[in-house]
Amino acid sequence: MYESNKAPYALGLMGQEIETEHCYIKPSASLPNWLNGSLVRVTPAKYQIASDSLKHWFDGLAMLYKFKFEGEQIYYKNCFLASDAYKAAVKNNRLSTREFATNPKENFFEKIIHGLAADMTDNTNVNIGELAGRCVAMSETNYINIFDFNTLQMQGHFKFTDNLKGHLTTAHPHYDIDKRSVINLLTQLGPKSFYQIYEIPYAGKSAQIKRNLIAKIPTDKPAYIHSFAISKKHIVLFEVPLRLDFKNLVFSGKPYIENYFWDKKLPTNIIIIDRDSGGIIRIETEPCFVFHNVNAYDVDNNIIVDFLRYDDASIIDALYINELQKQAKALPEAKLYRLSISLNTKGSKLEKLFDMSLELPQINYQLTNGKRYNYVYSAGTTDNTDFLNCLVKYDLSRSNSVIWHEENCYPGEPVFVSKQDTNYEDEGVVLSLVLNAKDKQSYLLILNAKSFSEIARAYVPNIVPFGFHGRYFAGRSFC
Ligand code: CO
Repeated sequence: MYESNKAPYALGLMGQEIETEHCYIKPSASLPNWLNGSLVRVTPAKYQIASDSLKHWFDGLAMLYKFKFEGEQIYYKNCFLASDAYKAAVKNNRLSTREFATNPKENFFEKIIHGLAADMTDNTNVNIGELAGRCVAMSETNYINIFDFNTLQMQGHFKFTDNLKGHLTTAHPHYDIDKRSVINLLTQLGPKSFYQIYEIPYAGKSAQIKRNLIAKIPTDKPAYIHSFAISKKHIVLFEVPLRLDFKNLVFSGKPYIENYFWDKKLPTNIIIIDRDSGGIIRIETEPCFVFHNVNAYDVDNNIIVDFLRYDDASIIDALYINELQKQAKALPEAKLYRLSISLNTKGSKLEKLFDMSLELPQINYQLTNGKRYNYVYSAGTTDNTDFLNCLVKYDLSRSNSVIWHEENCYPGEPVFVSKQDTNYEDEGVVLSLVLNAKDKQSYLLILNAKSFSEIARAYVPNIVPFGFHGRYFAGRSFC
């Protein structure tokens, strides 16, 4: 029985602290024999440290999950990411780091000292990536945690060998598959702040990585930027009206996100950076809020940018755990929009492509990122008083969708995995971790990406709380 004052999906937001050394889970049907890599995910999983409660979905201490496909079986393992934030919480038996929306109990001087240092957490609970031949976990603070691909054991913070200063980044770096480089944003905070876009080589396994600065853009009030888009020629940033007041960050003593404010006077500025010259063009569009870009590409002297658009930033407030666990409350919706930008006229056209509320979008990244493409995979909601309760495949050229939905089930990000040696954009599978909140079980769902029908599911020995992102690594070993 559900508690009557709780939403049916509340179980996904309660944390889950059981670690599984390793086990094998059996899929309900045979899997494609080419599927022989590993899905690695990171998820907020601990919201309570003695009497300290973490308040927001983005605060939870990170747990790592690994699913390794081995023929008829799937090897499964999960454990906490032993970040400094996690180790300090366990050692001190209280929250000891400044998280996204929850601060530890600090005295006046600690508040000022932490504020001046813009000192935040290394609790990298947002995404998994690959950096200099290492597996890394990332969030929006300037800490990148390296962990062992096989054991998931923490190996320390990644250190670049340059002098670039910064405090905030995105957990959505872009990998330019053709150029074999990685691009990300690093925002430096201060009385004068800067958005810095850097590029590094992707292929090298040397730990000596120097970031090559493509552009450095001053800003008085940096915007909240969760992701950005790249085309072959451009980098596109949405500078939304949710802005950080640096003075407040230093002096308010409030948690990080509470130092942002929605400036009603501002439009959304689209900052377009030429990847070769570093030249910058700004255009304005209607105010909006964005977590996830979907894709972007160049057509002649135009840039097409697809993204999930919220009307404002109220989604951040809606994701406080207490709010989110409430029954039948409508959540702010994100819809798939296309912004077509003319670099000749500096004009733009904004159009809604699909009217369903979507989040955690994915594409066939290897084949189509930065290029013209056809399919968006996403979690979605069939009813906006519910949480993400379905998976959607949207066909951009036909403007139609296919939906996977099952009663009481809450799927996470759909990760597309391409069959080897194919150029068909949707030939492969989609992997999603689903919570059946009624049966209190999680399972890994494997869909045929073309038909969106189920190939198999494999039940996990413990509940996997709702999380954000993960990455599929092809092949049985990492390097
Ligand atoms: Co994200």
